[in-house]
Amino acid sequence: MKKKSNRRQMLKKSLLAAGGLSLMSTTQAKSTPRQTQKLEGKVAFITGGARGIGSAIALRLAEFGAKVAICDITAQIDSVPYPLASQTDLAQTLSLINGLKIGGMAFQADVRDRAQMQAAVKRIVDLWGRLDILVCNAGIVTVGPLETMSENAWQDVIDVNLTGPAICMQAVIPQMRAQGEGRIINIASINGRKGSAGSASYNASKWGLIGLTKSIAMEVGNDNITVNAICPTGVNTDMLNNEYMRKAIIPQNPTEEALNEVIQNDHTLPVGLLSPSDIADSVAYLCSPEAKYISGIALDVTAGGSARNNA
Ligand SMILES: NC(=O)c1ccc[n+]([C@@H]2O[C@H](COP(=O)([O-])OP(=O)(O)OC[C@H]3O[C@@H](n4cnc5c(N)ncnc54)[C@H](O)[C@@H]3O)[C@@H](O)[C@H]2O)c1
Repeated sequence: MKKKSNRRQMLKKSLLAAGGLSLMSTTQAKSTPRQTQKLEGKVAFITGGARGIGSAIALRLAEFGAKVAICDITAQIDSVPYPLASQTDLAQTLSLINGLKIGGMAFQADVRDRAQMQAAVKRIVDLWGRLDILVCNAGIVTVGPLETMSENAWQDVIDVNLTGPAICMQAVIPQMRAQGEGRIINIASINGRKGSAGSASYNASKWGLIGLTKSIAMEVGNDNITVNAICPTGVNTDMLNNEYMRKAIIPQNPTEEALNEVIQNDHTLPVGLLSPSDIADSVAYLCSPEAKYISGIALDVTAGGSARNNA
């Protein structure tokens, strides 16, 4: 046990010195007896992977045979009024990935930090030799009218949700081009398809992310790299189902049941809040061989709510 933790400390120190970000631990790839190994031999990097949708995506891709690296800020951003993920969350997700015995890696790193993202990508490629899948999932939300929104509250949301994916894509595209293939999936939102009073910065960041996705799909398609966005409806995670958000959405009754009802009212299918694994299913599909000619789309996962949208 002590040996293990010494090794972890050494790894942590060496990477801090090398790239300014911290590595929690790694496992080497091992063969696995699983039947459904659609992503065998592939390497995936998921941002914001400590919990919620990111954690579910990480586990799903690992179940399909990919080696999976995750990163998460595991610290608070001052303008965000609900807790972001902890180091324990990151360690727990890493431990679940490692339990599948394919290969796992976790970094404490901030998607806004170009040097950290480049160091993470370098570390992944140095260790596993390639990088096939990037999922830009890290995100934050703050609510309130634009008129009274602080400069930080605006800027932090744009920086994490929009500039973060741009930085991550810049870090991985040279490697994907060298491989002659790659899959990039940006987790946008149904709020990237419509306006919402009270979440202007979030909606603007997610609209922007869809525009970024389509533009980069055009820039990298010639090297067989697909770039798509996923637009989920409400998902039961710590970002949405917390006291701050429930009070903002349903001040008269800020309970989980009421939140679920509000979300369900927007759906045509008989379901309220989706679960993170529902979004992971769509990510896995976009990473699969069957989705090789799908690029430049924004895929709604909205339990039918999109039926109300313009074509
Ligand atoms: N929950 C929903 O209803 C919902 C709906 C549509 C889209 N989304 C999107 O899905 C994604 C995942 O959200 P979630 O619901 O799982 O929320 P979450 O808060 O559980 O997960 C987001 C993760 O990102 C991490 N993170 C935040 N800032 C970061 C940064 N600068 N660098 C690295 N990591 C950072 C957080 O620590 C957290 O672990 C987000 O992009 C979110 O906007 C969520």
